[in-house]
Parts: sequence; C-alpha cells; structure tokens
Amino acid sequence: MKVAVIGTGYVGLVTAAILADFGNQVIGVDIDEKKIKTLQKGQTPFYEPGLSDLLIRNQKAGRLVFTTDYSQAIPSAEVIFICVGTPSNEKGEADLSYVFAAAESLAPFLTDKAVVVIKSTVPPGTHLEVKKIIDKLTKVKYYLASVPEFLREGSALEDTLHPDRVVIGTDERYAQDVLLDLHRPINGKRILTDVVSAQLIKYAANSFLASKISYANEIARLCDAYGADVMQVMEGVGEDKRIGKAFLHPGIGYGGSCFPKDVKAILAFAKKKKVELAVIAGAHKTNTTQVDYFIDKIKKHLGHLQNKKVGVLGLAFKGNTDDIRQSRALVLIRKLLKEEAEVYAYDPLAIANVRKFFPELNINYASSWQEVAKQTEVLVIATEWNEFKELDLEELKRISKVRYIFDGRNILNPTKVKLAGFHYIGLGR
Ligand code: UDX
Repeated sequence: MKVAVIGTGYVGLVTAAILADFGNQVIGVDIDEKKIKTLQKGQTPFYEPGLSDLLIRNQKAGRLVFTTDYSQAIPSAEVIFICVGTPSNEKGEADLSYVFAAAESLAPFLTDKAVVVIKSTVPPGTHLEVKKIIDKLTKVKYYLASVPEFLREGSALEDTLHPDRVVIGTDERYAQDVLLDLHRPINGKRILTDVVSAQLIKYAANSFLASKISYANEIARLCDAYGADVMQVMEGVGEDKRIGKAFLHPGIGYGGSCFPKDVKAILAFAKKKKVELAVIAGAHKTNTTQVDYFIDKIKKHLGHLQNKKVGVLGLAFKGNTDDIRQSRALVLIRKLLKEEAEVYAYDPLAIANVRKFFPELNINYASSWQEVAKQTEVLVIATEWNEFKELDLEELKRISKVRYIFDGRNILNPTKVKLAGFHYIGLGR
C-alpha cells in the first residue's frame, strides 16, 4: 500500500518505519526542514532502541523516503496518517493547531478514496473540525478514521508490533477494510469502533494508567504514615487479576509527553460538557504534589538543603530514553535549586537535552554516577535507569562520602543498601 505519514516525532517515525518494513511504500512528511534533512541522511533525531536500524534498512530498500513537500507525499497515498503533536495550551487543553495545519496542507492533494487517519491524540469530535477544513479544499471522496497510538517510548517498536489491541475507529466500512488490511501483519485484538469512541479510548486508557500510578503513590504516602512497605502492599494488590500488577510502581510521579498532557486535556474537555472527573482530577493533583512530598522527606532527614551537595541520578522522564519532556527529575532539580542546594547530575542519555532546552538550570553535569558520588554527600535517584538499579554499593562506599540515598523510584533493595552502611529513604517503605 502507498502510505503518507505526517509528523516525524516518536509516533510518526515509528509508524512510518514499521509500515515500510511490512513492504508498504511510505513517505514521511514534516514541516521541519532540519529534521527532514537529518532523516534523509539516515540519522534519527532522537534515541529509540532499534529505530535507527529500521529506518536505515527501509530507506536503503527504497520503501521509505522523507520530504517537506505535501504535493510529493499526498497524491499517491492511499492512507494518510496525521501524527503531529497536540501539546497542552495554557488552559490545559490539547492545542490542535498542528493537526488543523496538517489537514489544511494535505487537503488540496487528496485523491479519490484516500483514507485520512488521525493518530495524534485528539479530543472527541476533533475529526469534525478536520473534516470542515478538508471539505473546504477538496471535492474528492475521502474517508476519515482514528487509529490511536499506545506505544511507550523506549519500547516503541515492540509495542507497535505486538500491541494488546489495535483500535480502528471509523464510521465507514471501506476505511475499516483498508485499515484492517494495512494492520494485518500486526498482532493484537482488533477493536472496531466509531471515531469518537476511538478518540476517547486513548484518553481513557492514558488517564487510567496515570491514575494507577497516582493511586500507588497515595498508598505509598499511607505506608510512610503507618510504617508499611508499599512494594509488598502493591504486590499483594496487583496479584489480583482484576487489578493487575502493571503501573503500580510508586515513585516521584509520572512525566513524559503523554500522561501529564492527556490527563489535563481530558479534564479540560470533560469540563466543557460539565462532566466531573473526580478520580482523574485526584490523580492529577497527587502527581503535581508527589515531588514536594519527596523533597519534604529529604528535608526531614537533612534538616535543610542550603549549600548541601546533592547528586541526582537521572534526568530523563523515565529510563531508556533521552526524552526530558515533563520529567519529574527536572521538577525535583528545580525545587532543590530553589532550596539553594548545589546540584550534581548524571543521566546516561539526557544531559545534552537538558543543556539544550534548559540552559538556565544551574546543574553540575557529570559523565558517570561515580563522578556525581565523588562530589556529593547525598544521592537522589530520579529516573528508573537499569544502571541505577544495579548501583555498586561497595564501590560507592569506597569512592565517596555519600551516606544518604534517597530512592525516588523505589528501585534499590533497602535491606542491601542499609547493610552496606547507607541510610536508605524511599517512598512508602
Ligand atoms: C505512555 C503510555 O504508557 C503509552 O501507552 C502512551 O501511548 C504514551 O504514554 P510513555 O510516556 O512512553 O507512554 O511512558 P510510560 O512507560 O507509560 O511511563 C510514563 C511515566 O510514568 C514515566 O514518568 C514513568 O516513570 C512513570 N511510571 C510508570 C511510574 O511512576 N510508575 C509506574 O508504575 C509506571
């Protein structure tokens, strides 16, 4: 099949690369010329395991090309995916300007029977606005659909190839058949539904997962208050198949490009219809106070933070990515700096992004956790990187004066840390 993918962020690039790998002819489109040039040279603009190889392989095979030119990409495309960003605006709503701009740019080049799929996360009803825009610019018969994306950064290829489900939302039989055919090589249950339900599935799923995390974080606070171990409590809770174990890992909260934005957006579009979402509003509130809660714990042990040398391990919003969008690690660092701590930090991949996007942050960067430890009295784990899970405690003792380890991701074994002679402070344990 001939496919165009508009937007070369995580979702767009992964979609383009995988569809090309299935043998489709794919054109990736982006208005960002620099990004397109980078991609044309066979380079990936961000880190995602396995993506670079997949892109290069399919570019070499001639199945995947990139352009900034809609007139090159759209006329031949049987299916067009809109995968542009929908960031939060100042009211917390999804900013749809990129989606509308993409619709306007593609419309004049649409050919008969093209299927336009909105993969960007958009509030229910957005497709009607998109339809109005396209209808003004073309007379051809085209179809609209919504195929939301559920991939996680760091495991994007695996998630796309082996999803739990593929949601195909469209009110037209023809578009449904085309999309079923295109997704044939992908595993997972098919959920065939209407466009609005598909759009809501994405928000409902993300806000449920975010709520699970906030729920675990609230129970962690309760465990702190009563002296229980939240990891055991969550194990006992998660073994119930009706609840499930995933996304019950307590920490300093959820970040990233999806959960914070989508939770705010669902609250905003519910409010427009005067629907109260008390559970989701609560999850959001807990997430926005979780770093403060952790900082209070740190202060309880250290007294104050002024002029204290604090080492922060992790800057990315989670492990295995260089993405720092809405990273709780950065929220934590800002608060530490406000308390006048001296911050030393290391991350395996994300330092360059923090330097680039937040040059004002007064952080002393290090090239390893050892280098951080040598200069600090206190270590704070802010991101769940595997290399921090395996922290060599004997080496830490040998090379540093660190005595306190604040585990903001509950990834270390408290008993081992204490036996090695450190103070261990996690969340809810
Ligand atoms: C998420 C959804 O999982 C994915 O389905 C959707 O398409 C996009 O948003 P992603 O943002 O890549 O994916 O990250 P995810 O692995 O879900 O983690 C989100 C945040 O939650 C991270 O900050 C992570 O540290 C935190 N988290 C996750 C927890 O604090 N505890 C958990 O148990 C799980």
